[in-house]
Amino acid sequence: MVKSCAWGQLASPGPRLAVLGGGQLAKMLAQAAARLGCQVVALEKNLDCPAALVCPVQVLTDWEQTVGAITSWGRVDVVTLENEFVADSILADLEASGLQVRPGAATLRRIRDKFVQKTTLAQAGLPVPAFAAVQTLEEIAVHAREWGWPLVLKARCHGYDGKGNATLRSLDEAGSAWARLGGSAGRSLYVEAFCRFDRELAVMVTRERDGNIVTYPVVETVQTNHVCHHVVAPARISATLAQQAAELARAAIESVQGVGTFGVELFLDPEGRLWINELAPRVHNTGHYTIEACECSQFENHVRAVLGWPLGSPHMVAPAAAMVNLLGQRSGSGHAHGLEKALAIPGAHVHIYGKSRCAPGRKMGHVTALGTTPEEALSRAEAAARCIEFGLNTDTETDQQ
Ligand SMILES: Nc1ncnc2c1ncn2[C@@H]1O[C@H](COP(=O)(O)OP(=O)(O)OP(=O)(O)O)[C@@H](O)[C@H]1O
Ligand SMILES: [Mg+2]
Repeated sequence: MVKSCAWGQLASPGPRLAVLGGGQLAKMLAQAAARLGCQVVALEKNLDCPAALVCPVQVLTDWEQTVGAITSWGRVDVVTLENEFVADSILADLEASGLQVRPGAATLRRIRDKFVQKTTLAQAGLPVPAFAAVQTLEEIAVHAREWGWPLVLKARCHGYDGKGNATLRSLDEAGSAWARLGGSAGRSLYVEAFCRFDRELAVMVTRERDGNIVTYPVVETVQTNHVCHHVVAPARISATLAQQAAELARAAIESVQGVGTFGVELFLDPEGRLWINELAPRVHNTGHYTIEACECSQFENHVRAVLGWPLGSPHMVAPAAAMVNLLGQRSGSGHAHGLEKALAIPGAHVHIYGKSRCAPGRKMGHVTALGTTPEEALSRAEAAARCIEFGLNTDTETDQQ
């Protein structure tokens, strides 16, 4: 059943944004948009989602209902997205119905499928690890002979938080990884050469329709089990490398003609070379620090870019910042135990996404702290993050949700 949308009752003349998806990214986008007088509605399959805390949510039983729902609302200025899982055909249908979709279907077609994405980046002359589409285990063996082990086997579409990835140390590991990633069920996979990186970096980029671009400071990201654990800004690298990373990120987003805010993930190898790992066609976890640490956050700049408004400054307002993710450790209630203790730590900016249930590795919130050095910011953010735990199942009311 489709719930009615609250826009009909609002008289505000501000721009109207429809966000495809209702997770924490939609929530933070809606918060930034509301500050500028915009009205936001998130489209989601479930009313029990983080965006529902801050904006109306249109519940869809199927994404196929997207075009009908949005076109029934009267004025909608821009449709944007908070994840890359909505099919290209739906974005194309939205555009065909006369709606402004940003980033648009053409950009998403170049990014959604990681194999197409890597091909686009390679064709633009940008450095990416060697990669190839694979249809059989024998093809994996052929690439291993060329590139050596380990290899990374990845799902071409719908991967996130490492859920579509497997590192293969030998052909013996390929069969089970192939099955786990859905290769046996016909899911399209590809392989990449393993990049022996010293560090992982990321750059948020916001691009306007006319091509004007701002790049945020290069950050260091630390992944545990393929999931981002924390981010340190700015990255502790030379000014020359930071400049190179920013230029690569800018060129990558130009190559997909992106409009809005994008995340660019990079590897820095021991020889000091940079490789692009992947692009995210949306605001990104490695840019959450920008809410408190930059003059204009990744979320506000996304709203500005998709509405055609001038972009804000991406410069940091403190010498350093760190963001630590609050990841679920077990299945259970989404209640944040220890929140009060965390809030008592001076300078810790705590974000709780409001998910009713917690699961191992699920992103439940994050903490950002500023500091005079990256080390100081990180230890402050970590101290607050350590106080908070989800899934303890002691809050009966929350558990029943
Ligand atoms: N070719 C590679 N060589 C070495 N490590 C890799 C490679 N590809 C991915 N990884 C590791 O796995 C992590 C997750 O990979 P990737 O970014 O492709 O997956 P994802 O599921 O889209 O992740 P996320 O949603 O967290 O961005 C990377 O940050 C990196 O630590
Ligand atoms: Mg990634």
